[in-house]
Amino acid sequence: MAGVPIWSARLCSALLIIFFGCSEARSFGIDYENDTFVLDGKPFRYVSGSIHYSRVPNQYWKDRLTKMFAAGLNAIQVYIPWNIHEPFQGQFDFSGQQDVVAFLRLTHSIGLYVILRPGPYICAEWEFGGFPAWLLKGNNDIQLRSSDPRYIKAVDQWFDVLLSEIAPLLYVNGGPIISVQVENEYGSYFACDYDYLRFLRQKMIDILGNDVVLFTTDGDGVGYLRCGTLEGLYTTIDFGITYDPAQNFNVQRKWEPRGPLVNSEFYTGWLDHWGESHSHTDAAAFAKSLDLLLAYGANVNMYMFEGGTNFGFWNGAEYPPFKAIPTSYDYDAPLSEAGDITEKYIAIRQVICKYYPPPPIPIPPSTPKFAYGKITMNLVSTIPDYLEKYTPGGPIKSKYPINMEEIDHYYGFVMYRHILKDNVSWPTTLDIMGVRDRGYVMINQIPFGIIEREKNTTVNIKGVIGDYLDILVENQGRINYGDNMNDNRKGLITNVTHNGDALTDWLIYPLLENITLVQSFNLKHSYPRQNGLLSTPALYTGQLVVPKKAPHPMDTYFDMSLWTKGQVWMNNFNLGRYWPAAGPQIRLYIPKPVLNQGVNTVVMLELESSPCMHDTNCFVTFMDQPLINGTVHTSVGHHHGKLSHHGYLPSV
Ligand SMILES: *[C@@H]1O[C@H](CO)[C@@H](O)[C@H](O)[C@H]1NC(C)=O
Ligand SMILES: *[C@@H]1O[C@H](CO)[C@@H](O)[C@H](O)[C@H]1NC(C)=O
Ligand SMILES: *[C@@H]1O[C@H](CO)[C@@H](O)[C@H](O)[C@H]1NC(C)=O
Ligand SMILES: *[C@@H]1O[C@H](CO)[C@@H](O)[C@H](O)[C@H]1NC(C)=O
Ligand SMILES: *[C@@H]1O[C@H](CO)[C@@H](O)[C@H](O)[C@H]1NC(C)=O
Ligand SMILES: *[C@@H]1O[C@H](CO)[C@@H](O)[C@H](O)[C@H]1NC(C)=O
Repeated sequence: MAGVPIWSARLCSALLIIFFGCSEARSFGIDYENDTFVLDGKPFRYVSGSIHYSRVPNQYWKDRLTKMFAAGLNAIQVYIPWNIHEPFQGQFDFSGQQDVVAFLRLTHSIGLYVILRPGPYICAEWEFGGFPAWLLKGNNDIQLRSSDPRYIKAVDQWFDVLLSEIAPLLYVNGGPIISVQVENEYGSYFACDYDYLRFLRQKMIDILGNDVVLFTTDGDGVGYLRCGTLEGLYTTIDFGITYDPAQNFNVQRKWEPRGPLVNSEFYTGWLDHWGESHSHTDAAAFAKSLDLLLAYGANVNMYMFEGGTNFGFWNGAEYPPFKAIPTSYDYDAPLSEAGDITEKYIAIRQVICKYYPPPPIPIPPSTPKFAYGKITMNLVSTIPDYLEKYTPGGPIKSKYPINMEEIDHYYGFVMYRHILKDNVSWPTTLDIMGVRDRGYVMINQIPFGIIEREKNTTVNIKGVIGDYLDILVENQGRINYGDNMNDNRKGLITNVTHNGDALTDWLIYPLLENITLVQSFNLKHSYPRQNGLLSTPALYTGQLVVPKKAPHPMDTYFDMSLWTKGQVWMNNFNLGRYWPAAGPQIRLYIPKPVLNQGVNTVVMLELESSPCMHDTNCFVTFMDQPLINGTVHTSVGHHHGKLSHHGYLPSV
């Protein structure tokens, strides 16, 4: 599979050497004598920015890349998330939003070089750090990022396909890619398996050849570099704002006494978590530090330059404690989540212009936003009713609960149903230790509480023989960083017990595999049951009518501040998770490409409580401003945990 690009690359350079000599050939490398990269024989330094094509709608790639070029950058750095390209083992997707080759060609045509980070692990606050969840299927004990043969085999097959796509885009082959990262901050991981790094290095050389700079990136501490580096891979480091570059680069110099200084992740901002304040990094402080780094002669990649959005279920999570990343990956970056020019962008551009001629194009305008206003939402069905009426192929039957990976339903939601075999009187305590990550417990659709991993995993119930015990479980995103990544299974990963006895005979419903079916579903007699602050998880739908004339449709923001927690789709495009009850993100970004002129259909899955239950405020609003720095409620979950933990007598 890799044969064609390798052969043509080798043939080409062989011909050049034999018949024309080497002077005309494109080359990129390291000049250790002069402490610099060299491009076509001349000293070269990059001023780069990170952008993730998976977080920007492909129709907007050009807009964001052009804005990066107009900021004075000469390169971008980009991660490749394995899990979007190999959704099921052996099934590859490089089309549309997944067309990384098109993204790289576009980058090239705009005039930017590429620093590629193909992983296979990428961290990036992305679901499972880029790993496909199927790695965990049948492999409870797999050691990721190590020489575990099960892991190596999967990486080997993936890299055969990926690196063959990439090879023609290397600088030496006429493309924009000047360097390729091996692994990602490997020194922060406990395994410290040099054989694994050697395998990756060899794999890259086998397919990409010897004419590309391979490098590693690690934190700027000796402890990180010890396990993160390997001979033959150029050592680079990452760090945020500094006013003493010599001090930070001291660590890189311990490993690379000569060669270019590189900060591979110079942090423009930082990530957010649900329930914690929005991160903010001062623009002037960042610009001052950038100025010092450039004056010091360093190569710099700003992480992130354009953060973008965790659409769908693609956010990652941190552990311990378990903390999920919100839908917005704005990162307080110089280009906002929606690609808007910020004060930080202008400050960075001014600094770069002190060192380089101004970019040959003006700064492109921000894309226009529009406030489409309020629309009414209508109840479609509760989740238990919906699932009973529509589950492709019917539920999966199992004596004990099984995790999501084992049923090939990797993302989002799954419902576990047990039919009570005895009368259970109040308060009967169920213990659900292995909930990954958040579960909504119902008896005959009456909510009895919320269970959360490692927080409150017990719930009190009552019911009679034949009642349905339903546990709707949300996978809130797999851990993307740290030593606990191997234990990343989702759904229920233990038994549900009562006094130590496991409940047996479960029906397992993978949820909403095809959201388009919600709209054709019409169950008027199904209403959510309420219990205290909770109501049965349910689906709602509404229509946004967009004017049938230019410049519509336009970017907009989805505001559901009266709602509590859930998921929203626009025209079947999964916009992401909303959770205004936790904050700090209150509105979701809706990019123009998911909207049409005329009728647009919104579907919401509300898990806890909708305004439709209490009054006539059954609406959502489309606004022209983002809101990702709203009030946060750190006690979220505890509040509902109280309901589930101490319980109360159901009123229905
Ligand atoms: C690199 O350093 C060497 C030795 O100091 C010097 O002769 C050469 O001109 C330098 N090359 C460039 C491109 O500056
Ligand atoms: C279970 O409860 C129902 C309703 O209260 C009652 O009719 C039935 O006799 C009970 N069954 C047992 C086995 O206790
Ligand atoms: C559930 O309980 C059964 C019976 O004790 C046991 O065989 C099984 O391994 C348990 N499953 C899990 C996931 O703990
Ligand atoms: C989803 O359901 C719709 C409506 O039945 C159908 O047209 C479409 O092909 C389905 N899509 C998939 C991916 O199954
Ligand atoms: C949120 O951001 C807006 C726009 O940058 C700013 O005006 C506002 O003060 C911020 N609010 C908080 C609570 O930080
Ligand atoms: C579980 O819920 C109780 C009752 O609200 C609360 O006090 C406690 O902090 C929660 N436990 C954890 C670990 O959050």
